[in-house]
Amino acid sequence: ALALVGPRDLLGRRVVVSAGGTREPLDPVRFLGNRSSGRQGVALARAAAARGAHVTLVAANLSVPVPPGVASVPVETAAQLRDAVRAAAKDADAVVMAAAVADYRPATLADAKIKKRGDGSTPALHLVENPDVLAELAADRLRDGQVVVGFAAETGDDDGSVLEHGRAKALRKKADLLVVNAVGDGRGFGTDVNDVVVLDARGEVVSAAAGSKDDVAHAVWDAVLARW
Ligand code: CTP
Ligand code: CA
Repeated sequence: ALALVGPRDLLGRRVVVSAGGTREPLDPVRFLGNRSSGRQGVALARAAAARGAHVTLVAANLSVPVPPGVASVPVETAAQLRDAVRAAAKDADAVVMAAAVADYRPATLADAKIKKRGDGSTPALHLVENPDVLAELAADRLRDGQVVVGFAAETGDDDGSVLEHGRAKALRKKADLLVVNAVGDGRGFGTDVNDVVVLDARGEVVSAAAGSKDDVAHAVWDAVLARW
């Protein structure tokens, strides 16, 4: 059994991980959401706890269970996630934003169920922008020496490769580390094989990993540990 016990190299560290996908309500029964399962964030929380860290998991609508030994704060919306992450981040040595945070939310929340019009006309959906939790954490620096980590799922397109899009995002967000995940072609979402490159705030590659979400999680903590 001892052979299964890895290094306790995060002992004494406090870390915050956000996971899952936010839901932005339209009315009491409807929301705008996304397909994030929370698996990568949960793997990060599990890996950190196994390495001895005190872990707070800000859990947005997970479809997988919270690992044992991990404190969790359930949230629904981007606004709730922001409040929970910032509260926990005040005394955290690292914050990893693995959650899929809605970029926009409905401008108004109806207090009763929106009825079908029935006259053939269609309603317009008005959206407003949500705060960028990661960019705020990187700008505000809630605690000295705190390592702020973001995730970016990217596909290549006519405007650039996965790495080029990742670099642009790293420069924009100013997080200490950005974990760029190549998605599409059967990689990333809904699978258990991931292909990541870890960039620093200048967009330089600091490490790369391929494998399960657990493998990626350990590679992320290795990169965080190297920054402390
Ligand atoms: N993120 C955040 N708050 C938001 C949107 C995103 O904290 N309102 C975080 C995510 O948790 C992730 C990182 O920012 O760690 C990158 O998210 P992503 O959606 O890839 O970045 P965007 O800037 O929203 O770019 P786009 O959706 O256009 O690719
Ligand atoms: Ca986004």
